[in-house]
Amino acid sequence: MSTERPTSEERDDEATEQTCPGRPCDRSDLNRRRVLVSIGGVGTVAVAGCMGLFEDEEDEAPEDDTADEPEDDTADEETEDDTEDEETEDDTEDDDEAEEEEAAIYDVEFLEFDETLEVTDEEALLYAALDEGWEMEYSCEAGRCGQCTARVDGDANDVISHEENHYLEDEQIEDGWLLTCTAHAEDDFALETNIHPDDGTNSIEFLEFDETLDVDEDQALLYAALDEGWEMEYSCESGRCGQCTARVDGDANDVINHEENHYLEDEQIEDGWLLTCTAHAEDDFALETNIHPDD
Ligand code: FES
Ligand code: FES
Repeated sequence: MSTERPTSEERDDEATEQTCPGRPCDRSDLNRRRVLVSIGGVGTVAVAGCMGLFEDEEDEAPEDDTADEPEDDTADEETEDDTEDEETEDDTEDDDEAEEEEAAIYDVEFLEFDETLEVTDEEALLYAALDEGWEMEYSCEAGRCGQCTARVDGDANDVISHEENHYLEDEQIEDGWLLTCTAHAEDDFALETNIHPDDGTNSIEFLEFDETLDVDEDQALLYAALDEGWEMEYSCESGRCGQCTARVDGDANDVINHEENHYLEDEQIEDGWLLTCTAHAEDDFALETNIHPDD
């Protein structure tokens, strides 16, 4: 017959097996069980287990875990919500700033209609005027036909940019001309509309100088030539002395109008003679200058 005494581990295992059936017993309670075994034997441990002396820690731990988790989750959710809100606000601010940058607004005075419009730099001038119901000349809407020309004081490059331009020369734009169908405002300015670069001007070919000038109908031929620095014979500048005579092919009455004439006979004018100091062009023509009827 064996007289060996069980080891402490064997006693612990025995005590564990004698707790209530179906209840899980973990080894975290072993110290407590050891104390009870030493006091009252294995049966005491079983009774203590059935009375629930080992339940508190087991029950409390999950409660604590459960209690902590929702709070943490809620805090996390709130943080996420806050972050989303901040991002949404940031996005809205960014969008607003982008819109402000994109939509610069300028005051454009349409002299013909005696109105000033606020025009964004995104809208071509033509459409701002059409939106008002104003009558505007245009056709291609692509910067090609020149029907929509208008004019500002000074260099148009300073106040507009053309999205497209296949009609105007650089010199014309520098002289204030623009195409309303493709011109976008870049500053405040006043605009003459429904006018064209060749309105009121005629192309005069000065044969002696081998040059053709666009001469305004309001300007006498003599002064257009003098503006170029060309040497021209003249004296009285009032149609009396006959020093400024010149000649066209055909009847001069067909292409010029004399503001004053106290020198030439009607027949001479019909024969092509004119006085450059008082003659204004009414059509395009070629002109011989510094010649006289009695040469
Ligand atoms: S409508 Fe043709 S160039 Fe503007
Ligand atoms: S300058 Fe005398 S008639 Fe022209």
